[in-house]
Amino acid sequence: MEQTMQQEIVSMPRIGDKAPSFKAVTTQGEINFPADYSGKWVILFSHPADFTPVCTSEFMTFATMEKQFNEANCQLVGLSVDGLYSHIAWLRTIKEKIEYKGMKDVEVKFPLIEDITMEVSKKYGMIQPGESSTKAVRAVFFIDPKGIIRTIIYYPLSLGRNFDELYRVLIALQTADEFGIATPADWRPGDDVIVPPAGSCGTAKDRMEGKEKDVKCHDWFFCTKPIAKDEIMKKVLKK
Ligand code: BEZ
Repeated sequence: MEQTMQQEIVSMPRIGDKAPSFKAVTTQGEINFPADYSGKWVILFSHPADFTPVCTSEFMTFATMEKQFNEANCQLVGLSVDGLYSHIAWLRTIKEKIEYKGMKDVEVKFPLIEDITMEVSKKYGMIQPGESSTKAVRAVFFIDPKGIIRTIIYYPLSLGRNFDELYRVLIALQTADEFGIATPADWRPGDDVIVPPAGSCGTAKDRMEGKEKDVKCHDWFFCTKPIAKDEIMKKVLKK
């Protein structure tokens, strides 16, 4: 296969793939990924650079919401191509000096990977040369307790992420797994969910005729049912 000098062929993990493994140094010590996170959900996310404004606003927001993610059995792991001492100095500056949107004294407790060699960021397709060949884009990988990549979201350098949306994605993935359903557009816990297609003609007919408890069909291929928010909280958040 021909390969120009400018265009390096990089691997891009895909939804459904096993999360590529690596060992790395982080602000919380060494990690062996994803093995150290077996049995837990993990969000592996990259940011372009320490000591930059959009990234600072993101870290303050994510750190403030960390408990909420942890309560949903999810650990956060950050990464940029900066070195460990830059990470430590930046996180200390955030804690000691930055006050933003009511957040202050914010301590980032989740690990932040140093990736000066770009080994991990290249493995995960976080270096996207059309955007920048020296910085990682804002990538978000949702990895399930078995180490499988379940969702990938990419944002460019200029666009700060919506962390409520990342939380919504996490809960939707967990709800889909627990209840064997799918979630419609803009779904939030408490909204109706989508039930899988009926297995046989008889079941489909019963469904269409409203004979299946709580199931409402908009057409034969589009049926929904309610799941109470409480039920989701109990099963997914164990509350
Ligand atoms: C930022 O986080 O503010 C940023 C980082 C890299 C490029 C542009 C903006």
